[in-house]
Amino acid sequence: MQADRGLEAPALAARTGIVCTRARTASERADHLAIRHQVFVDEQGVFGDSDLDKHDRDRSTVALIAYCDEVVVGTVRLFQLDPAAGTWQGDRLAVLAPYRTRGVGAPLVRCAVATAATLGGRVMTAHIQLPNVDFFERLGWTRTGGTELYAGLPHQPMRIVLPSRSEALALVKRLEDGVNERGQ
Ligand SMILES: CC(C)(COP(=O)(O)OP(=O)(O)OC[C@H]1O[C@@H](n2cnc3c(N)ncnc32)[C@H](O)[C@@H]1OP(=O)(O)O)[C@@H](O)C(=O)NCCC(=O)NCCS
Repeated sequence: MQADRGLEAPALAARTGIVCTRARTASERADHLAIRHQVFVDEQGVFGDSDLDKHDRDRSTVALIAYCDEVVVGTVRLFQLDPAAGTWQGDRLAVLAPYRTRGVGAPLVRCAVATAATLGGRVMTAHIQLPNVDFFERLGWTRTGGTELYAGLPHQPMRIVLPSRSEALALVKRLEDGVNERGQ
């Protein structure tokens, strides 16, 4: 994963810690897909050969990536489910194993939530692997109903009400400017 892609070098050089941003360039999108493959196909075996689906062919789907000290180490995807209801779904949240519990996943989730709000969303939903339910509850998400099978594994449906657009714009900017491992 190369760091000198996607952002102008001087801008990136000024940023330290965890930076969450949209995967804008072809190489950033390749990093997004590579991390997903590494985590969901190779590590977890949730998908057989590929985790790609129709949302990856939809140009309105948004991919976010996280840099940790200028290396791309995490990602998440979001897409609109119901425009009338303002519902967005987040999925494919993944941080490379050596970078976990270093404060990458939480800002990625916050960035997905804020990004959906900047795009007019009101609610975000997700199917959460059971070992990660506490992680999402700590980030303000709530359970909706019982567990279900998703991608062949038990998952907990969860949701969060999105912040106001102005609050979300400020958070997206703060996360793109970079935060430390405590999210500050
Ligand atoms: C789930 C995942 C994205 C979390 O990413 P991460 O970078 O480790 O998360 P953070 O470091 O930002 O964690 C923030 C806090 O939550 C805690 N935490 C992390 N994973 C947790 C979990 N599964 N359950 C409870 N707490 C968790 C961290 O210890 C940290 O606690 P602290 O604030 O007291 O220090 C990561 O473990 C991962 O990629 N897992 C494999 C893929 C996966 O399961 N994806 C989600 C599918 S639903």
